[in-house]
Amino acid sequence: MQGDAYLKCINPQCGLEYPIENTNVQCEKGHLLDVKYKNKPSPELKEVFYKRRNSEGSIFNESGVWRFRELLNFCQIDTENIEECSKYLVSLDGAEGRQSKPYHMSKAADFIGISNDNLWLQPEGYNPSGSFKDNGMATAVTHAKMVGAKKIVCASTGNTSASAGMFAANEGINCDVYIPAGQIAPGKLSQAYQFGAQIVEVDGNFDDALKQSLDDAQNHDGYTVNSVNPFRIEGQKTIPFRALEYLNWEAPDWIVYPGGALGNTSSCGKALMELYEWGWIKKIPRIAVINSEGASTLSDLYNGKFEGEELRWNKGNPNTELISRYYDHLDKEGLRPKTKATAIQIGRPANILKGLRALEFTNGVSTTVTDSEMLDGMSVVGLNGFDCEMASGASVVGIKKLMDEEIIKKDDIVVGILTGRQKDAMIPVDYHRNPENKFAKPPKN
Ligand code: F0G
Repeated sequence: MQGDAYLKCINPQCGLEYPIENTNVQCEKGHLLDVKYKNKPSPELKEVFYKRRNSEGSIFNESGVWRFRELLNFCQIDTENIEECSKYLVSLDGAEGRQSKPYHMSKAADFIGISNDNLWLQPEGYNPSGSFKDNGMATAVTHAKMVGAKKIVCASTGNTSASAGMFAANEGINCDVYIPAGQIAPGKLSQAYQFGAQIVEVDGNFDDALKQSLDDAQNHDGYTVNSVNPFRIEGQKTIPFRALEYLNWEAPDWIVYPGGALGNTSSCGKALMELYEWGWIKKIPRIAVINSEGASTLSDLYNGKFEGEELRWNKGNPNTELISRYYDHLDKEGLRPKTKATAIQIGRPANILKGLRALEFTNGVSTTVTDSEMLDGMSVVGLNGFDCEMASGASVVGIKKLMDEEIIKKDDIVVGILTGRQKDAMIPVDYHRNPENKFAKPPKN
């Protein structure tokens, strides 16, 4: 036991600390928490991680999450001791993160207008439950197991529930998932049923479902596994870890994500902050967060589209009243998030403050894309022999838009994250049946 991991409030004025066994997702003043480590991992671990790609029979080396276990060792175990790993670390037989790494995709590069050598796309859909969520769910369920939780609880636009259900079934614990009724892809809903999760249908959107699930967790002894859980963020750090490792730890200029609840943005920011502080990377990549035009809270607030003020982390003093006024405005005007990319149909990103911190640290940007652009992005990925869902298409067309605006420069190295696999079979069918769509190949008769 190294005893070096603890939880700390993200608000520098508050800074409350908690032992690692704490299961509240917020400090007592209502701020989000970070997992912190007292030790500074040696850059020599890069070599260890590389060697583990030859797994030598260990699922914890095979796993794209636990391969980096020294950088997520909140269990404080001897990470070389495989028996100890088996006792503590939750893994779906090493499958989480195992197949996801960055690839060149020439047709996507042509469409974007970037040199093929400069574009990397990382399909996180090739995780066991079909989305990037498995990276963070492996770690959140590890913590749930560590504290003896009997039931995990989440709200979801679909992928979180599939991932939570899968790990819960594998660990033999219960799982309640709150979903916005009628607003999630059929393939995701069927996964949650298949894995034996208890579905709770909420008459409302994801934001309403999250509120209910957090209340349920608090009142009925549930363990929350949404991305407000700091242990989710730890596992999702391995998404940029894998990208960086494949680039020999040479930081790219940009890392681009679709933006929903902003768990990914937060985890990428935390990963980069830690790597930079430890001297593992010399340059800080800029994060770009791509919202759907119909669910654009971050982009609106960050770009000063509401009340003319550009919302910033501001060294830990963000204008949270501006955020509250924005949400009041949405409520008063009856504005509900609306996009066909239901995965990111989110109006109140629960991690907005961590997201802003990540954007400040990385000099990041945020923008929006339309539904039809996302469909083109999704489709061109398919033409390279990779499969992704509509929300993931936002990364591709977001890069294109930022290049057209010359925010991403011609020679920049860009990594785009393709967050999930296609789970709504009719979306590509409908896209290709309409000859007006850019990449459509309509059926012949
Ligand atoms: N892409 C996909 C495929 C997603 O499922 C999600 C989020 C996001 C992007 C956004 O990521 O929240 O980290 O900004 N899906 C969640 C869910 C909310 O419930 O499955 P984020």
